[in-house]
Amino acid sequence: MDKLIIKGGFPLSGDVQISGAKNAALPVLISSLLAEEPVRITNVPYLNDIKTTVALLAQLGVEIELDNSQVVNVDASVVNTVCAPYELVKTMRASVLVLGPLLSRFGRAEVSMPGGCAIGSRPVNLHLKGFEAMGARVSVENGYIVAECDHLKGARIFMDQVSVTGTENIMMAAALAEGVTIIENAAREPEVVDLACFINTMGGNISGAGTSEIRIEGVNKLGGGEHRIIPDRIETGTYLIAAAVTGGDVCTRNTSPGMLDAVLEKLKEADVEIEVGIDWIRVRGKGKRPRAVNVRTDPYPAFPTDMQAQFLMMNCIAQGTGLVTETIFENRFMHVHELQRMGASIKLEGHTAIVTGVNKLFAAPVMATDLRASACLAIAGLVAEGETLIDRIYHIDRGYDRIEEKLAQLGASIKRVSGQEYKKMTDLTPYQSPHIAVSN
Ligand code: UD1
Repeated sequence: MDKLIIKGGFPLSGDVQISGAKNAALPVLISSLLAEEPVRITNVPYLNDIKTTVALLAQLGVEIELDNSQVVNVDASVVNTVCAPYELVKTMRASVLVLGPLLSRFGRAEVSMPGGCAIGSRPVNLHLKGFEAMGARVSVENGYIVAECDHLKGARIFMDQVSVTGTENIMMAAALAEGVTIIENAAREPEVVDLACFINTMGGNISGAGTSEIRIEGVNKLGGGEHRIIPDRIETGTYLIAAAVTGGDVCTRNTSPGMLDAVLEKLKEADVEIEVGIDWIRVRGKGKRPRAVNVRTDPYPAFPTDMQAQFLMMNCIAQGTGLVTETIFENRFMHVHELQRMGASIKLEGHTAIVTGVNKLFAAPVMATDLRASACLAIAGLVAEGETLIDRIYHIDRGYDRIEEKLAQLGASIKRVSGQEYKKMTDLTPYQSPHIAVSN
């Protein structure tokens, strides 16, 4: 298993190119299942979740190839099976997104139950309720969700809770349904808008994406098209925080500042210097620690849960005390215990972490627990005194495009080592951090 070794204390500086958004690329690629003609998707990030999506689509019989050119051509004119197997769904929960398009185009879809995941139970009841409202029959057989219908019919669907993939799944199902579907209390995330744009490019008829009421007029069939994935706002925010905590000077390029209002507001509140252009954001350290900020996660356009761990980390070395409240996912504070091992002062009270900034963090061997938690540990490693070893970085590879390459280009001292390389290194010299000697 690969690991990252990061030596802290180097301010980041320079330009970093932001990749396409993982959370837009996944549904967009999957929605190509709706199309009877080839589609071409550009600005696709090179990530493990994308590789899983490509494997999943290929397994369904779709012609698709992935290299690191950021362009993916998909031909779903022929689909051989409508079953997404456990082996793929267990590595990526978003596989459940194939339900909507398969159901509406072929009248049947089977997807292994996603099950629990590290950041909480994450049910899919709202997705299924939406399909049922459109006339589908849904059952669970041998651990698989099976959805069937003769032909989906448009419906008015109220989402009890704002759900990003729930909105996307229902939107894809409704694209080929008979009549009009209205999704009320829909997710307003930019990734939902990107998916709607792509479906419209293929000949769909969706309006209102980006508001809490989306109207989808079903069409008989969808054709081909070309689409460029929007920039990854979470990757952007992650590099901005990395620049701020190291006191660096970093410009994130090919991004979309308008999608980061809540994040930029909080950075300004933290007294971080920010400059914004049409497609870039620059952060400059002021030679002093940022100010601690209170953060509360909520659906877009409010502060994103996917930036919670990174801001919590910034508070760890900030001046003062900041409260970080997580309202979207239960159990999304697993990074707290790892940060505490690096010397952070954090107290957990229910859904709130009370973080009091300290002068310094110290390197320690830490374990990544989920995607965004691993990003926060990498940032902690950039400021900690000594060499931080991050284990289980397969989490980070799911969602960050070449993170060690990008950080190294900005001047970070970061190295990826394979399990074997690490074993060889530690056989020679046991891993040492200033405070903890680790045996292998
Ligand atoms: C998506 C993002 C993820 C982000 C999250 C919240 C993708 C691939 N992933 O995840 O990065 O952290 O949005 O912004 O886009 N819920 C239910 N029933 C459902 C569906 C959701 O109760 O059927 C609950 C969830 O448990 C959670 C909340 O609704 O508490 C929001 O979850 P949701 O927006 O669905 O998250 P995902 O779409 O899985």
